[in-house]
Amino acid sequence: MEEERILDGAETAEESSSDLEQALRPASLKEYIGQDELKHNLNVFIQAARSRNEVLDHVLLYGPPGLGKTTLAMIIANEMKGNLVTVSGPALQKSGDLAAVLSTLEAGDVLFIDEIHRLPRQIEEILYPAMEDFYLDIIVGKEGASAHSLRLALPPFTLVGATTRAGDLSAPLRDRFGIILPLQYYARQDLERIVSRTAGILDVEMDEDAVSEVALRSRGTPRIANRLLRRIRDFAQVYNDGLITRQVAKDALNRLNVDELGLDTTDRRFLEGIIFRFKGGPVGLEALASSIGEDTATLSDMYEPYLLQIGLINRTPRGRVATSKAYEHLGVLPEELSGKGLPD
Ligand SMILES: Nc1ncnc2c1ncn2[C@@H]1O[C@H](COP(=O)(O)OP(=O)(O)OP(=O)(O)O)[C@@H](O)[C@H]1O
Ligand SMILES: [Mg+2]
Repeated sequence: MEEERILDGAETAEESSSDLEQALRPASLKEYIGQDELKHNLNVFIQAARSRNEVLDHVLLYGPPGLGKTTLAMIIANEMKGNLVTVSGPALQKSGDLAAVLSTLEAGDVLFIDEIHRLPRQIEEILYPAMEDFYLDIIVGKEGASAHSLRLALPPFTLVGATTRAGDLSAPLRDRFGIILPLQYYARQDLERIVSRTAGILDVEMDEDAVSEVALRSRGTPRIANRLLRRIRDFAQVYNDGLITRQVAKDALNRLNVDELGLDTTDRRFLEGIIFRFKGGPVGLEALASSIGEDTATLSDMYEPYLLQIGLINRTPRGRVATSKAYEHLGVLPEELSGKGLPD
């Protein structure tokens, strides 16, 4: 949020970065790299709905940040040839806010609600009849005798919800999505294709080896791959006439404190926190977060899923534990911990 505000002040920087963001987003399912199973199924549902001349059933996209949920929402609207109307869960605070959005929808539109798990419960309830039967009940008149409800028919539309926390969605809301699509971290070959594609769009020259180095260190996440590539391009421009070789990529990534597993400073503090402050765990996420001065939600949404995925931590009923792979990665011997004073 802070970053967005800073960019607001620098209009041109914001403009060019959002133009670039736009250029980097694949616009069709064909261009969307990876997530093969999801893509295959979604394509079937889209083709079927289109050939029946119906709107696509409501879609819930879930998975860690930066894997392509917003991109998919845009693609769904493109493929279904509908307008995309985007709102964010936390921005809808009053029931009137959602009613206002719903009442502007046209037939075939795609309503994208980002961070849908943060929709207040009383607003969620307005969505139920809208999703199921395409109508909206609005209360008109003041409270008391003169108040009555008015039923407004809505055109058929598709709701696309995105969340990093499917578990936080209420069951009644989740049940109203006909299509539920989990996004997975990208395999290395898919990330390599994404990095090459981005290099092409940015018009930078890049060795194959360099492509695979960036893919390796991008935590399975296209957003991170794109971000790292832009920074590496800066280093290449200053130090190597713009050409990105493996060595240039490695040097730049080291300077950016991104290690061979793609972990950044916060990931490493996460692991060191468990190992040094809590003797390897188990430790609850909140205790860990406060001990390393991080926000619990940031750790659970942005950091923990990848550390779990690559097997550096495990989740147990009593909390998180560091695995032997984590000790190895940080170069710590478990024996070193016993009996010694713990570093701060
Ligand atoms: N399959 C893909 N192929 C190519 N580029 C992709 C793909 N998925 C995502 N990207 C790129 O990665 C970036 C992040 O994607 P996107 O904004 O859709 O992620 P998100 O899942 O919505 O993240 P968040 O949860 O933070 O909102 C975008 O710039 C997009 O262009
Ligand atoms: Mg998004």
